[in-house]
Amino acid sequence: MEIDIFRPVFPLRFGVILCVSVFTSVSLRYFSALFLRVSALFLRVSVLSLQYMKSNKIIITIDGWSSCGKSTLARQLAKKLDYTYIDSGAMYRAITLYFLRNHVDWESSREVKQALKNIELEFIFNPISANSEIYLNGENVEFVIRDMVVAEKVSEVAAIKEVREFAVDQQRIMGRGKGIVMDGRDIGTTVFPHAELKIFMTADNAVRVERRFKELFEKNPNVSLEEVKNNLEMRDYIDSNREVSPLRQARSAIVLDNTNLTPEEQLKLALKWARDRIAEKAAK
Ligand code: DC
Repeated sequence: MEIDIFRPVFPLRFGVILCVSVFTSVSLRYFSALFLRVSALFLRVSVLSLQYMKSNKIIITIDGWSSCGKSTLARQLAKKLDYTYIDSGAMYRAITLYFLRNHVDWESSREVKQALKNIELEFIFNPISANSEIYLNGENVEFVIRDMVVAEKVSEVAAIKEVREFAVDQQRIMGRGKGIVMDGRDIGTTVFPHAELKIFMTADNAVRVERRFKELFEKNPNVSLEEVKNNLEMRDYIDSNREVSPLRQARSAIVLDNTNLTPEEQLKLALKWARDRIAEKAAK
């Protein structure tokens, strides 16, 4: 009998070809989908980095003595530039409020560390007050942190190393996207030493006491001028003499003495500096 050598081979060949084609088409489908996904991801990353590189937004830091009007200027600047305003002092005040309410002994590093684990701070924009307000564990504490009870202790709490590390970490995260104006005591020196614009605010002591007194008196008519003066001097002393990140003028900071300036005049000056820096960045 003649052996048909093709007979068994043909289905085998056919089978092999079929398997190869099925495998190839399945892999092609799979790999093309994967390829498409990876390309889309690359494209997104490139667009985002291009946007970041091309963004002309800068970081503006405003440091200075207590009650110099830092927050007023920072808020107005942020509004004009369409930036985010962050009141770093509010973070230290909110932490102090938590410590007071929960009887945390801040002399004990163990208690401080444990307490910080239970603190969540957040800024949420309030369209009614047109202000970013601070929330402590979900509660709006923007108003209560301005009380004298908190003001009397905040400098002590803000001098604690663990507290500063906790706050500074969060402040740096907030500045990642640039486009922020942050005020405080160590923003230009420690938090954002490479900020494009650093302003250091100062004003005559008597003027600062008077301004602070007026502000507090509106909320609490029982407050005395003497009390306000003592609190201001004490905070300035502790803030500038503490071991960790004391209040200092950054070398590259522009000094803004507003003793004889109206809020409009100081805003005009600061806006010019900011626009100059933004233009410099755009030209690079
Ligand atoms: O700006 P303020 O008065 O709300 O700040 C409250 C306190 O917090 C003040 O005594 C100094 C401290 N503070 C600080 O140590 N570092 C900052 N960046 C901001 C405030």
